[in-house]
Amino acid sequence: MIELKSAKDRDKMRKAGRVVAEVLQILKAECRPGMSTLEMDAIADREIRSRGAVPVFKGYRGYPASVCVSVNHEVVHGIPGPRRLRPQDLVSLDLGATVQGFVGDAALSFFLEEAPDEEALRLLTVTEESLYKGIRMAVPGGHLGDISHAVQEHVEQHGFSIVRDFVGHGIGRQMHEEPQVPNYGPAGRGILLKSGLALAIEPMVNMGGHDVDVLDDGWTVVSRDGSLSAHFEHTIFLDETGPEILTAIRP
Ligand code: MF3
Ligand code: CO
Repeated sequence: MIELKSAKDRDKMRKAGRVVAEVLQILKAECRPGMSTLEMDAIADREIRSRGAVPVFKGYRGYPASVCVSVNHEVVHGIPGPRRLRPQDLVSLDLGATVQGFVGDAALSFFLEEAPDEEALRLLTVTEESLYKGIRMAVPGGHLGDISHAVQEHVEQHGFSIVRDFVGHGIGRQMHEEPQVPNYGPAGRGILLKSGLALAIEPMVNMGGHDVDVLDDGWTVVSRDGSLSAHFEHTIFLDETGPEILTAIRP
C-alpha cells in the first residue's frame, strides 16, 4: 500500500529533510585527507542529534553507524571504520534522519580534494544531473517509470552504467515504503504519480559495468569491475505544483 502524505506530514518531512541536508553539508565541509570514516560518523551522529533528530540508519537491520561512507569503487552502504581518506578519494555520503516521526534521506558524492581525471569528474556530474532529470518527471499524472527512464537515459547517453540491484523508494514514517523507484526501465509504466507522494530517488552509477557485489561485512556494495561509482539522492514530495526537494542544500 502506498501512503499519501498530508500537508501536515509534508511539513514534518521538510524538517527532517532540512536536518539531512544540513548535516551532509557539514560532513562534506569537515572531511579532509587523513580523517577516518569513523570520525565522520561521529560528526554525523552528533550533528543529527544536536538538531533534535534521530539517525535512522543506526540499528536499521543491524547497520552500525549513522552515515554510510562509500569510497571509490564502493557503491553504497560503506561502513565507517579506521580507513583514512586520501586527497583523490571519491567519497559518497548517505544519511537519514527522523524528525517528529518522519524520515528524510539523501546522498551526495564528491572528490575529497581533486578528481584523478576528467572522466571521473564527469561521472559525478552525470550522476547528479540524472537525479535532477528524474526529479523533473515527478509530477502528478505521470508514471513512476517516467522517473526511472529519465535517469537511465541520461546516464547511458554518457556511457556510464546504472546499478540495478539497488533502487530508490517511497519514504515517510518509514525510511523504506512502497513503491520501489528503480533507476532504469520504460517510461509510461508503473504506478500513476499522485499529489501527496513522497519518494527518495537515488541513482547509483558505475563508470564501468553495472554489476555489483556485497562484501563479507554484509553491507558494503562494490562495483564488480572495481570501477568508480557515484551516488546522489534526494527526498522529494509531489503536489499539484510539482516536485519539492525536501533535502535540498540551502545557502
Ligand atoms: N539511502 C539508503 C537507502 O535508502 C540508505 C540505507 S543505509 C542503511 O536504502 F544502513 F540504513 F541500511
Ligand atoms: Co534511500
